[in-house]
Amino acid sequence: MDKLIVNGQRNISGKISVQGSKNGALPILSACVLTKSQVILHNCPKLSDVYAALKILNELGCKTDWQGNSLIVDSRDASAYSISDELMREMRSSIVFFGALIGRFGLAEFSTPGGCEIGLRPIDLHIKVMEALGTEIKNENGRISAKAPNGLSANNYVFQFPSVGATENAILAAAVARGTTVLENCAREPEIADLADFLNSCGAKIKGAGEGTIVIDGVGSLHGTEYSIIPDRIVAATLLTAGAMNGGNIVVDNIVPSHMRPLIPVFLEMGCNINVGESWMELKAPKRLGRVKHVVTMPYPGFPTDAQAPIMAATTIASGTSVFTENIFECRFKHVPELIRFGANIKVEGRMAVVEGVRRLYASSVAAPDLRGGASLLLAALAADGLSEISNVHHIDRGYENIENVLNQIGADVRRM
Ligand code: EPZ
Repeated sequence: MDKLIVNGQRNISGKISVQGSKNGALPILSACVLTKSQVILHNCPKLSDVYAALKILNELGCKTDWQGNSLIVDSRDASAYSISDELMREMRSSIVFFGALIGRFGLAEFSTPGGCEIGLRPIDLHIKVMEALGTEIKNENGRISAKAPNGLSANNYVFQFPSVGATENAILAAAVARGTTVLENCAREPEIADLADFLNSCGAKIKGAGEGTIVIDGVGSLHGTEYSIIPDRIVAATLLTAGAMNGGNIVVDNIVPSHMRPLIPVFLEMGCNINVGESWMELKAPKRLGRVKHVVTMPYPGFPTDAQAPIMAATTIASGTSVFTENIFECRFKHVPELIRFGANIKVEGRMAVVEGVRRLYASSVAAPDLRGGASLLLAALAADGLSEISNVHHIDRGYENIENVLNQIGADVRRM
């Protein structure tokens, strides 16, 4: 298991280009199965979660081939519609293959994802909308088998909760269902619009993605395309926070500034100076960060749950008390005990965490509990006085490509063991 050794308290400044979006790439890789053609994907991040999705595509009979930072996926010969239990366990968000499998084969078999570090990850919202689109689903001890004997049929459907994954599965299935589907109370995350843009470039007819209501005219088939995945807004937020915590002046390049909107008020409240350009954002840190009165995670365009842990790291050294309310996942404070090992002062009460800012953090050896929690510990280590050690780095590698090289390009001193 890799470890990261971090020599803290260096000024983090400079210009850095941001990787492609993990949460954009995964549903688009699933959508490739619907095209029965060759797809060229640019800006696809090289992450363990992406490699896991490629293993699933290969298991389904698709050919995949990297050409530099571009990925070629050829699903012409795909014939299997079952995902093994082992691959489902390797990456729980593999549930997003459901809509593509049922859309391509009228059949789908996979295991329930099972809980993970941040919560139970139920799939009831996926099941309900897929049944509404004509799928019959059986769950036998955690193994799901689904079929659409008469093909998928359009429907009008209102989500009880704007689930990102369930919205993505519904879009994948409705894209090739007979008739016009109207989905309401959909998730509005930028990755939803990215998936719709990809599918539309393959000949789908999807309108309104990124808004609450999405209208989809089903088409008979989809063709191949060449497409560039959107930048990763959470990686961008994490890198900006690294600059904010270390008195830096940092420019993140190759981003979509509008995707960063939910984060800007928080950086401003902490006393950072923000400039936004066409495809970049600049953050100038204050001498000492101010506290954030109340961070409340909500579905997009609210404050993103994936940025909660990274921003909490910043508040541990801010002047004053910051409060966090985590509304999206039921178990997303696992980074708190590890941050306390750096000398942070945090109390957790259910879905709320109260952070009393301290003057400085001290180097420590910690274990990453999950993907974004791991990023939070890395940020704390960058600000801590001395040499810190972070284990279980595989969690971080799921969502951050080449994290030590990226950070070292902007002044950090991080080594992988
Ligand atoms: C996606 O997860 C992201 N993952 C998550 O990013 C992100 O935190 C989340 O959306 C919210 O933005 C990918 O895109 C691969 P949800 P997803 O369905 O689709 C409950 C990261 O760090 N729920 O919107 O699973 C669920 O338990 C990851 O990159 C049900 O109850 O998110 C959670 O409490 C972490 N029933 C809430 O809804 C369901 O059927 C939000 O889940 C589905 C979800």
